[in-house]
Amino acid sequence: MNNNPKFIVFEGIDGAGKTTQINLLREALEKRGFSCFVTAEPTDMPSGKAIRRALAKEVESTPIQMAEMFACDRELHNTDAESGIERMLADGITVICDRYYYSSLAYQGTVLGFDTVAALNLDNPNIRKPDICIFLDLTPEKSLRRIGDRGGKVEIYENLDYLTRTRKTFFEVFDKLRDRGENISVINADGSVDDVAALIFDAVSAIL
Ligand code: TMP
Repeated sequence: MNNNPKFIVFEGIDGAGKTTQINLLREALEKRGFSCFVTAEPTDMPSGKAIRRALAKEVESTPIQMAEMFACDRELHNTDAESGIERMLADGITVICDRYYYSSLAYQGTVLGFDTVAALNLDNPNIRKPDICIFLDLTPEKSLRRIGDRGGKVEIYENLDYLTRTRKTFFEVFDKLRDRGENISVINADGSVDDVAALIFDAVSAIL
């Protein structure tokens, strides 16, 4: 157990390699004596499953309902007595989370506005501020190429436009959050897996 556990979040548009890099960071931290817990949002809890059904359009939800569901899932993710973020940190375990409120501010914020989504998340005392957010950045063109290489079906024009807008929104969100004192590190994900892992480790080392 390490007595200085951290809360680390990964964000990035599709194809940026979040899953691979989360696992590599976990290995690197464990080698240095940190116990790590890897988690993700939406969660596997009932609140996260409800979100998956809404994302799959199995149930109808308005944009504000979606934002509220994400915030509710996030609050429960923080406070769950057995495996919540707060519990892990209290037990000395570093938490690495795949997506967090940055995704809400970017995706739901595009429709509802930053302030509405911020009120549901940043103003909620049960939703902890991460020690660092790692954003894996890739140009939309390169992201599409990687999705294609993985065998995914690519609708070139729609997706290029969508990824371009999403990336731009993330950067706007980061500017606003930096003004509020958040530690956000934009990592160029267009290198070898090992090179990107080294950049991430450097950024994380600064907060250890
Ligand atoms: P993922 O499992 O691929 O990360 O998918 C989760 C989807 O949910 C992804 O499209 C991003 C979206 N999302 C939001 O819109 N808001 C949020 O707050 C979170 C955590 C995810």
